[in-house]
Amino acid sequence: MIKNENIKWIEGKLATRNLVKGQSVYGEKLVKIGDEEYRIWNPYRSKLAGAIYKGLKTFPIKIDSKILYLGAASGTTASHLSDIVRKGIIYCVEFSPRVFRDLLQLCQTRKNMIPLLRDATKPETYANIVEICDVIYEDVAQPNQIEILIANAEHFLKKNGYVMIAIKARSIDVTKKPEEIFKEELRKMSEYFEILEKIYLEPYDKDHLFVVARYK
Ligand SMILES: C[S@@+](CC[C@H](N)C(=O)[O-])C[C@H]1O[C@@H](n2cnc3c(N)ncnc32)[C@H](O)[C@@H]1O
Repeated sequence: MIKNENIKWIEGKLATRNLVKGQSVYGEKLVKIGDEEYRIWNPYRSKLAGAIYKGLKTFPIKIDSKILYLGAASGTTASHLSDIVRKGIIYCVEFSPRVFRDLLQLCQTRKNMIPLLRDATKPETYANIVEICDVIYEDVAQPNQIEILIANAEHFLKKNGYVMIAIKARSIDVTKKPEEIFKEELRKMSEYFEILEKIYLEPYDKDHLFVVARYK
């Protein structure tokens, strides 16, 4: 089980210590414990929470980590990371203007989240803003997700930095078996990264593999 000062199990439910007291980001329950407030972290809404419920052991995110988050959407998972990296920063890349509006509002209340309306396939378009990071978190659900990861690692990931990626088989090829797809994606990844941990996200997400790896 992972250990982190801002993550807690409360009566069997995963939660993060709320950075913005009173704020519920996506309708999640808030729980008070003494002077602190926790946000219940839903594994059906966040693949990182799903991976933790499924026994994730490698958790390279610390209180002062710098994270590049590719595919932040409206910020569900990023908001929990924001609870965790209180002295760090999360660069949140999202290219859909519709969900970006909600992300932008959220980032106004959470100063460790930086919203970037950008295409993750073009890291050079945010190279003047994003600094060298400790971790890249990617959840873009795109056929070229490994190429996106490699391009961003080359720009922004420190040597021996970590990547956490949710690989969605159905975004790559609906005709192939997920196991075949995962094997090929892991092969591509392993040219650049040492694979540390793999977790199937069922029952929280179907045909998704969550992978933690280290940049070679
Ligand atoms: C599965 S959702 C992410 C959910 C989010 N990670 C969470 O847990 O809260 C995938 C997101 O990636 C975004 N996306 C896909 N391709 C992208 C790209 N090339 N650049 C930036 N965002 C992208 C989509 O617009 C979508 O919002």
